[in-house]
Amino acid sequence: MRKLILTSMLALGMVVVPATAMAKPMKHAAHAMKEKTLYERLGGAPAVSAVIDDFAGRVLADTRINAKFAKSDPTRLVANLKTFVTQATGGPKVYKGQSMAAAHHNMGVTDAEFGALVEDLVATLDKFNVPAKEKGELLAALGPLGPQIVSVHSNETGGALPASFKPAPAAKK
Ligand code: HEM
Repeated sequence: MRKLILTSMLALGMVVVPATAMAKPMKHAAHAMKEKTLYERLGGAPAVSAVIDDFAGRVLADTRINAKFAKSDPTRLVANLKTFVTQATGGPKVYKGQSMAAAHHNMGVTDAEFGALVEDLVATLDKFNVPAKEKGELLAALGPLGPQIVSVHSNETGGALPASFKPAPAAKK
């Protein structure tokens, strides 16, 4: 008899499951489904910082592109690159530097120089054993910036910095 009553109550939708009993498992399921940000998967602030330090070292030693950095303040550049990559990967910082178009204005960056910089970044990511998925996601986030940075369509590298280029003010000490 009792079973019959319960069955009929269920059929009529009369059994009320308390909201608290539902909330917990649903919260867990939602949490498990939400993938971590690229920033978190890369390893957060210490990883982004180490990656950019290594990358900046490669760029400044790369004769295909280092002439372009002759007038720029490396402290500002490295600090702004860290914040830029943090924001671009979903991390907890807001980039306050120049837009990509303004930062690279009058720099005469070629397609091949852009490619050289990406190669330097790939070499860094490989050194840090960043998995293919995260490496692909980071390159996919930065690649579309090409048109804002490249101003000369050429496969030449090692171009001099044009005299018209004005660097951003150095970082405050
Ligand atoms: C996806 C590729 C690139 C990204 C994400 C990027 C990002 C940045 C960022 C965030 C800054 C700092 C701007 C500021 O301080 O306000 C910067 C500055 C600079 N970038 Fe790039 N950049 C890229 C490609 C390149 C390439 C290909 C070159 C040259 C070959 C280059 C040369 C420079 C130089 C020289 C500065 C310093 C500008 C100044 O002193 O005012 N960048 N870049």
